[in-house]
Amino acid sequence: MQTLVAGPGLRWNAVRSPDGRPYHRGPSSRICETSHIARVPEHGTRSVEESELMPQAIQIHEYGGPEVLRLEEVDIPAPGPDEVQVRHTAIGVNYIDVYDRTGLYPVQLPCVLGREATGVVHAKGRKVRDLKVGDRVAYALPKPGAYTELRNVPADRVVKIPRGISNEQAAALMLKGMTAQYLLRRTYRVKRGDVVLVHAAAGGVGLILCQWAKALGATVIGVVGSDAKAELARKHGCKHVLISGRDELVPSVKRLTKNVGVAVVYDAVGKDTFMESLDCLRPLGMMVSYGNASGPPPAISPLELSKRGSLFLTRPTLFNYVAKREDLVATARELFAAVKSKAVRVRIGQTYALKDAAEAHRDLEARRTTGSTVLLP
Ligand SMILES: NC(=O)c1ccc[n+]([C@@H]2O[C@H](COP(=O)([O-])OP(=O)(O)OC[C@H]3O[C@@H](n4cnc5c(N)ncnc54)[C@H](OP(=O)(O)O)[C@@H]3O)[C@@H](O)[C@H]2O)c1
Repeated sequence: MQTLVAGPGLRWNAVRSPDGRPYHRGPSSRICETSHIARVPEHGTRSVEESELMPQAIQIHEYGGPEVLRLEEVDIPAPGPDEVQVRHTAIGVNYIDVYDRTGLYPVQLPCVLGREATGVVHAKGRKVRDLKVGDRVAYALPKPGAYTELRNVPADRVVKIPRGISNEQAAALMLKGMTAQYLLRRTYRVKRGDVVLVHAAAGGVGLILCQWAKALGATVIGVVGSDAKAELARKHGCKHVLISGRDELVPSVKRLTKNVGVAVVYDAVGKDTFMESLDCLRPLGMMVSYGNASGPPPAISPLELSKRGSLFLTRPTLFNYVAKREDLVATARELFAAVKSKAVRVRIGQTYALKDAAEAHRDLEARRTTGSTVLLP
């Protein structure tokens, strides 16, 4: 097997059949029929047929702490007929990757972690019409597999990245920004004059949510873990910021809302905040429990909603909201427009080399990160 260098971190292993002809090692049904010569923008032209990529990926073989993340070579077959093969340029880190790693959300092992990335279309299946090799694309997928240099993705799950949005920004945005979009525009449609409460306001989703809610005319109360994060949250849309562990949540929210309560709570902290969040709502308010950073929230009786003022409770997930192609496209379009109009500024608080993904996980879980976290392959 001959190894060719195809760019930073990418090794190409040319594989030949016994009679010396190049071939793909994947099942023949998966051979890419349309793009045997893949143009790789920064690195020149390579023959996909003459080479097999052995990209590196961060994979887990068991559930556990960040130490279970291993950098390994993975075998990527040619893309299927409806797939594109994406050479990643930036990979988003999300708290959901921690749930996958620990087994809170069971995955099939071994598992390459990661739900979102951006990159360049490197090859495509024969049925793919709307994308061409060299296009800059981004995606967020329900199936893990993004912590890798190269990946096959269903073509109807990617969107093109508009000019003016960098690869890193897109990787920081797709999953978190589309989450902010559906939470603010569909789960509860935020209106001018609403008071909204956002937990983890200085985090990846949090900073986008707060800015966007403010742009929609809401007054945003953010909750963060430190003074430094409070400063950041203020600069990104929060009118008031409470510090968890120092400020008492319910009395503070009552005071700030003149005893009315907030229209909606966006709570992704979960276990530690869920019950108090319910107590912050006005009658008929909406409790949006969309994550479990501190652990899953407790099970409650519907009566708890009734006695607090006929509250609404929902536990939404992005992938239900963008399951249809038209919803994915509309959500991404609105998100990119919000960034281009500067209603939302993308803050990448930290980047790591792909091989240092475990360090990124340690920092995320220890609440040391702010804004979005991006891995660079
Ligand atoms: N349902 C969906 O569709 C969906 C989609 C995307 C994300 N999410 C959820 O949204 C949340 C935010 O995701 P993200 O990727 O943007 O992460 P993140 O907000 O950047 O990081 C998590 C933050 O949660 C806060 N936190 C509070 N208690 C914590 C604890 N015990 N352990 C760890 N962190 C704690 C920390 O902020 P402070 O130090 O300021 O408290 C921490 O920085 C996650 O719960 C995620 O699962 C849900």
